[in-house]
Amino acid sequence: NFYPVILAGGRGTRFWPLSRKRMAKQLLPLNSDKSMIQETVERLSALAEKKNFWVVTNDDLLVPIAKQLRALPIKQLIAEPVGRNTAPAIGLAAFILERLDPSAVLGLFPSDHVTSKPEAFKKDIAKAVQIAAAGENIVVLGIKPTRPETGYGYIEVGEQYERGVMRVRRFTEKPNAEKAAEFVESGHYFWNSGVFVWGAKTLANALREHLRETAPFLEKIAASYGTKEFAKTFAKLYPKCENISVDYAVLEPRSAKGEKSSNIFCIPADWGWNDLGSWAALFEHRAAEQQLSEHENVLTSKGAFTHDAGGNFVHSPRKFIAVVGVKDLVVVETDDALLITTRQKSQDVGKVVKFLDEKK
Ligand code: GDD
Ligand code: MG
Repeated sequence: NFYPVILAGGRGTRFWPLSRKRMAKQLLPLNSDKSMIQETVERLSALAEKKNFWVVTNDDLLVPIAKQLRALPIKQLIAEPVGRNTAPAIGLAAFILERLDPSAVLGLFPSDHVTSKPEAFKKDIAKAVQIAAAGENIVVLGIKPTRPETGYGYIEVGEQYERGVMRVRRFTEKPNAEKAAEFVESGHYFWNSGVFVWGAKTLANALREHLRETAPFLEKIAASYGTKEFAKTFAKLYPKCENISVDYAVLEPRSAKGEKSSNIFCIPADWGWNDLGSWAALFEHRAAEQQLSEHENVLTSKGAFTHDAGGNFVHSPRKFIAVVGVKDLVVVETDDALLITTRQKSQDVGKVVKFLDEKK
């Protein structure tokens, strides 16, 4: 039985001013008229029934998420009392599912990525579920790298296991620039897409092994799921969990056991994947979709005029906009805020949110 678990606790601060505390990046319709989390559910719908979906998010986002995902079982929308990064979030789902269905296979899906090839996605996930169900296996979905990005995890692949599936030799989360360049150069590495598939029991056991102090807390919270005590136990014990991502907590240490004993497998994925990480990434994604070159403009407006302008991203859906004599700018307008930056610097937009948080 396959259970998609969607993680949606991130804020996506680099998409300020569109992303807000109660309107994180994954709830925005950045790619189509549906939000990214709605698209995530949709692309998984062919693989699992709605009653098998779980979402782990935070208190601020629970109500907006419930409104966007009305077809999902409300008791499977889990709101963390505090954020503890992805290892406790997916770990809790694993400990709960292990109790509810000992043969559960669970897929971890970020809620804020876009893909443009739904058929390829479906095929790869179905394959991953098959491998995960066959033993204590961990399956990671790898993307062919196109630049030495330091914000991703890198998967070094080894021996072929079966057609289209490789053993993982080593997993390195967020390497420095030098290492990243070396990895991309070598041709033996994939980016971690952030999508993992494994048995609930496999993941629960991995956490028992690699997060010794945190696992018992998760286990107790899971044991109270479905009882009156759940909210209280969750609020009391979850803050005690280690704040760590599943990449650092499980993938890196597990892969150090060696290719044959770590039981980590990689399926190379060609999904038109993009983890829209910044306004610049959104520019590139939209430009590619509209078949524009980097020297054209991506505009969301009520009519526009451009002259001697290129590479700009402007979002002001209710206004007529004119762009004259500038290039590579990012301008985003909402009712109460205006962002002006460049595509090159749009990674730094998170700093605005940090400033606003500290001011409060
Ligand atoms: N529920 C919950 N709670 N979800 C969370 C939390 C949390 O505390 N923190 C993050 N998430 C969700 C985010 O909303 C996102 O969907 C997903 O988990 C991944 O978290 P990110 O914070 O975006 O991770 P990252 O981008 O730094 O790195 C991960 O993704 C890369 C690909 O996009 C890693 O898995 C990398 O190895 C990978 O390459
Ligand atoms: Mg991310």
